Amino acid sequence: MIRPSPARRALLASIVLVGASLASAVAPPAEAVTVVPFSRPLSIPKVLTGPNITLTARLADVQILPGAKTRMWTYNGTFPGPTIRRPTGQTTTVTLVNNLPPEAGDLTLHNHGNHSTPENDGQPDDRLAANGGGQVTYTYTGTEAGGNERGATQWYHDHRMGLTGRNVWMGLAGMYIIDDPADPQTLPKGAFDVPLMLTDRTFDANNQIRYNPAGNVGLTGNRILVNGVPQPYFVVGDRKYRLRILNASNSRSYTLALSNGQAFTQIGTESGLLPAPVKRTEIEIAPAERVDVVIDFAKKLGQKIVLQNVAASGSLGQLMQFRVMRDLTDNSSIPSKLRALPTLDATSAVTRTFVLSRSRTTGQWLINGLAYDPDRIDAAPRLGTTETWIFKNGSSSNHVIHLHDVDQQLVSRNGVPARPWERMKESWNLAIGETIVLKVKFTDNLGKFVFHCHILEHEDDAMMAQMEVVP
Ligand code: C2O
Ligand code: CU
Ligand code: CU
Repeated sequence: MIRPSPARRALLASIVLVGASLASAVAPPAEAVTVVPFSRPLSIPKVLTGPNITLTARLADVQILPGAKTRMWTYNGTFPGPTIRRPTGQTTTVTLVNNLPPEAGDLTLHNHGNHSTPENDGQPDDRLAANGGGQVTYTYTGTEAGGNERGATQWYHDHRMGLTGRNVWMGLAGMYIIDDPADPQTLPKGAFDVPLMLTDRTFDANNQIRYNPAGNVGLTGNRILVNGVPQPYFVVGDRKYRLRILNASNSRSYTLALSNGQAFTQIGTESGLLPAPVKRTEIEIAPAERVDVVIDFAKKLGQKIVLQNVAASGSLGQLMQFRVMRDLTDNSSIPSKLRALPTLDATSAVTRTFVLSRSRTTGQWLINGLAYDPDRIDAAPRLGTTETWIFKNGSSSNHVIHLHDVDQQLVSRNGVPARPWERMKESWNLAIGETIVLKVKFTDNLGKFVFHCHILEHEDDAMMAQMEVVP
């Protein structure tokens, strides 16, 4: 095994004390700083739109909480990293430069949701950007199955073997949006199309973070950040806004609802627009999932509406506040038909079943009884064929199964046909005892790709498997 042993990983984790003196990190946390809810404005990450992008991984002191800045591992000095926004069908290169301190080691960059070839997929042990200024250039063609890749809300993050949880926790994540002229153009755009990245972190008395997962169950933080800001407010107009919500947390799931009981209009998932909009008053979002929603603030002028997380209480239940303070005209609309799903072959070539479980002896998370082994191929689908993949959660925890390379269509969940908001995705939350049946078509790309649980402490514990698309 190339990945560090659990003991080695625990040691690595315990020595990651970024920005905190050893003494203060060892001392019991003193009084943590108070955040007055909705006292700071939402921040919108810088947007990069050019064809050749550089992301430099480096230390930066970021203003997250009031008072001392938080030393983080960042892309280009901010958390979240810049939002990359590119038209579909056009080639984009992203060059990762690794200027992090030695304890970060080598890095990879995965464009999550993108249809990348294996060498451009940022796999856990492949084409590493060496610590000390090493760099790797990833090329994305923006094409899929003979056409343009579908418009989608993707994200990029580090994917290093056994260390993804640490590297993402320290700050290595950002959003990547593909704009697609084949999507309806009347949806809210420009300043009314807003990415929201949800993360949770725990800070010490000096406002510093450290990665201490204390086992493999999954690390949660005691504060929730939206675009890196604790409980921000966002001044909006009395019109429709498109919010592309990403759960970039290591392990926490959220259940989103609006404080006035109003419904979201969900228009998309990880894999782009839905066939038709769906109204939902509560939306669960697990790690790595995205929900693309429209909220209409028409006739709400003067109101304050809170985006809640009804899965938790106290400050964890109040994510951000919309202040409807601007009188605007709304020239946007949501068409009743958005985007048809690609058609897959009616018959599948092969059916494969994967059971998610936990070792009774070691407590390790497993897929079909096995931990990840980069030298083992767990599935070898043929290029151009459609297969049925079944995932069963036989463990006592939820998991979020994510497949690289291509999107998947849901046939059924627990025997019930796919609900309208989850017909095509690439990250799937499975509650205890659940079973999903997926159809997957393997287009364009030959070679090896991973699939894994996106609870990052499970992934790093080797709850990952590998497919090889063969001719
Ligand atoms: Cu977002 Cu394999 O990862
Ligand atoms: Cu991915
Ligand atoms: Cu898991």
